[in-house]
Amino acid sequence: MSTKMKRVLPYKRTHTCGALRASDVGHETILMGWVDTWRNHGGILFLDLRDRYGKTQIVFRPEFAEMYAVAETLRSEFVIAVKGKVLARPAGSSNANLPTGEIEVEANELHILNPAKTPPFEINERNEAAEDLRLKYRYLDLRRPDMQRNLMVRHQLAQVTRSYFDRNNFVEIETPILMKSTPEGARDYLVPSRVQNGKFYALPQSPQTYKQLLMVSGLDRYYQIVRCFRDEDLRADRQPEFTQIDVEMSFVDQEDVLAMMEGLTVEMFERILGRKVTLPLPRMTYAEAMSRFGSDKPDLRFGLEIRNITELAQESEFRVFKEAVQSNKTVQGLCLANGGGYSRKQLDELSEYAKQLGASGLATIKTSAEGWQGSIAKFFSEGLIQRVNERFAAGNNDLLLFVADEEERAQEILGALRLRLAQQENLIPKDTFHLSWVIEFPLLEFDKEEKRWAARHHPFTSPMDEDLELMSTAPGKVRAKAYDLILNGTEIAGGSIRIHRRDIQKQMFNLLNIGDEEAERKFGFLMDAFEYGAPPHGGIAFGFDRLVMLLAGRKSIRDVIAFPKTNSAVSLMDGAPSEVDERQLRELGIKLL
Ligand code: AMO
Ligand code: AMP
Repeated sequence: MSTKMKRVLPYKRTHTCGALRASDVGHETILMGWVDTWRNHGGILFLDLRDRYGKTQIVFRPEFAEMYAVAETLRSEFVIAVKGKVLARPAGSSNANLPTGEIEVEANELHILNPAKTPPFEINERNEAAEDLRLKYRYLDLRRPDMQRNLMVRHQLAQVTRSYFDRNNFVEIETPILMKSTPEGARDYLVPSRVQNGKFYALPQSPQTYKQLLMVSGLDRYYQIVRCFRDEDLRADRQPEFTQIDVEMSFVDQEDVLAMMEGLTVEMFERILGRKVTLPLPRMTYAEAMSRFGSDKPDLRFGLEIRNITELAQESEFRVFKEAVQSNKTVQGLCLANGGGYSRKQLDELSEYAKQLGASGLATIKTSAEGWQGSIAKFFSEGLIQRVNERFAAGNNDLLLFVADEEERAQEILGALRLRLAQQENLIPKDTFHLSWVIEFPLLEFDKEEKRWAARHHPFTSPMDEDLELMSTAPGKVRAKAYDLILNGTEIAGGSIRIHRRDIQKQMFNLLNIGDEEAERKFGFLMDAFEYGAPPHGGIAFGFDRLVMLLAGRKSIRDVIAFPKTNSAVSLMDGAPSEVDERQLRELGIKLL
């Protein structure tokens, strides 16, 4: 084989492997690519040649003896150059699934440009290899057509974004990667400074402070497709480094930001999926999302809504419910239509799941024409049963599930059960995209461990004007000018109108228990800047990877990132993070414990 290898490319390719059509029949062509699959039919060798653009069938006939001998040595993933004639495939043998399916190339010259070791998994769309193996050999995984399609969606989305913002007068501005820690709430990735020994840069959790400074500078409309870094627990939709479409605008209110982003989603869906998005997008307050769907990112592709039956539960004789209501808790529930056939085992599993989520129990009842069945049915009078049934619009073969707990906790538990039931029962329609805004988020959340208020979004998020007075009397009730964009139950963007008044910012820091000295140390530069004329401003950031994942119909953002990390933040391909030389550590003044 090595004797047939040419060290220099013998000629240039004339077409890609996805280009040839019936109209090219009769022409000479030179193709280059990777050996995909091959088969031998009565001495004739058929081979699919693959590149980013597609596959083309190549035919090697024994008549070209010298070439044929080389062709017989070809194996998967060899890189080859083939010269030949484009022929129409014989009647009945064209392949309608392949854009090049009407033709084949009859080879008359073959060069092996590079042989390949047997790959650790087959390069095809079936995706049967374990993910760890795919990640270790990511460069091979990325040869698979479906992975290349994901990266193409990513590329297209970036182009749509840039073109949209450019047309709307936004400026693309890069901000530092080595920076001072940002207050997005996750742990920072730190970079030790050699020159300033003992000091550290932080990698940006987002360019939040910089984009606000750019508004002070008068840039008016900023955007950037930017890498962000957060050291947090990872999941299918969270990576330690991820990409945002980051946006900030001056002299705007919430409506302006939402309208600008709605325009962007219309273009994204139109250009990537050829789908029409109807505007304005539906909106729901945080309070409504929690009470109806038990989530601040409700999946609105299906119903299965939560209902509150606290005042009805109080009338029952069921001790658990009565005691809960007496101690200011609530009783809320779900009704799974046609869940009347659930087995003991299935109910136990649901109850176990609820307990994992922190429920002290899950009460279940089956409805039937004869009334309720289940251990707690006896505690409800006939009249009460009817009123509960009405609240859920329950039929005769349904499953009612109740949780008695503090309001928000019961909502969250039922919200998670709702998703699990929907998946289990196939209630989520395929190929549907549901976009909506969640608005009026609480400004603060109480950190139970540290026993203090924390910013729910970040400390520069503005309270709603109508709630300003509550800041001193009932901070937990203050709503923020903050908004999230939800797509199919995933938060794809989040942002807010910022505080630009110094007195309110100071009040916010006070609430967060950030003293003057700490505020100065952490955000002094921003506060100083605000002294020199800050315009009212606000913005938002899209989770770019999440958006690509959903548009490409994937379940994990790892599938749409060229070189992702595992859930334990490791890159299996290059082995990052890794140990470093003693000398490097010494230079940085770092000693490992
Ligand atoms: P936020 O923290 O909500 O806002 O982030 C914006 C969006 O980024 C995505 N996202 C992530 N995607 C993948 N992996 C992660 N670890 C990850 N973390 C967040 C989400 C989220 O909606 N500076 C503010 C924006 C602003 O106020 O303008 C910010 O970063 O889709
Ligand atoms: P018990 O009387 O404690 O054995 O509970 C009877 C039923 O009530 C069991 O099915 C429990 O799972 C259920 N239960 C207990 N606590 C709660 C709760 N907080 N919310 C809903 N159901 C509960």
